Amino acid sequence: MMNPVYEKLQSCLASVREKTDFIPRVALILGSGLGDYAEEIEIREIIPYEEIQGFPVSTVPGHKGRFILGYINKVPVIIMQGRVHYYEGYSMTDVVLPVRLMKLLGAEILFLTNAAGGVNFQFQAGDFMVITDQIASFVPSPLIGPNVSQLGERFSDMSEIYDKDLQDLLFHTAKELDIPLQKGVYIQLTGPNYESPAEVRMCRSLGADAVGMSTACEAIAANHCGMKICGISCITNLACGMSENPLNHKEVQEIADKKAPDFKRLLTAAISRM
Ligand code: 6GU
Repeated sequence: MMNPVYEKLQSCLASVREKTDFIPRVALILGSGLGDYAEEIEIREIIPYEEIQGFPVSTVPGHKGRFILGYINKVPVIIMQGRVHYYEGYSMTDVVLPVRLMKLLGAEILFLTNAAGGVNFQFQAGDFMVITDQIASFVPSPLIGPNVSQLGERFSDMSEIYDKDLQDLLFHTAKELDIPLQKGVYIQLTGPNYESPAEVRMCRSLGADAVGMSTACEAIAANHCGMKICGISCITNLACGMSENPLNHKEVQEIADKKAPDFKRLLTAAISRM
């Protein structure tokens, strides 16, 4: 009998393949407020998530919910404008289904982006952080359940989730564009509430530099199926208790909007070299 997770994936794959035979190399997931990047690409196909049988559709404002397939300076890419989050009530298997689907479409590299809270005292709102490693221990692993052996092994090695060469590429590219980059460890919590000051201190004492509600689970699934991974967080605010002002979603989006031009330049230049 087929694994139900793999069966659903195959049905999504068939749904996409009815529309296009495009084979992407890089899969890019755009985080909150970073979603209008797709203007930069030579578009070949747009597929709203609703048109894919069984595909999880986001409910968060600011998340559009569609795939864009096309070229960034000749590099074939598939871009997710909007992702689904665990806090929306989806199972972890559904949350990472899009990543696995993009792998089955041909993507070899996963480029993860997100808006995150700064936990490291050296960080400021508006900073970009290259993700060097992650802590996903507070969310269930997306690999729980029968192993999808068509994708990868039962016990996956996690010694270099974020590819060192891709990290180097991001740093070199940013330097040329004169865009400052931080680096650090991303911790995923479930959300949807932001952290209490005590939880932010906990995150820091565990070695986290930025906190968010996505990304790490997607990286686990991508690592499992053998993709190369890189990630950038846009630090939209300092986490709770680190500055005077309380957090709100609107503020997070405003900073993301303000930083969008630099972010786009960096993504375009980096992906062109992948
Ligand atoms: Cl402070 N926390 C979490 N979990 N996600 C965020 C954030 C904070 N700021 C932006 N996204």
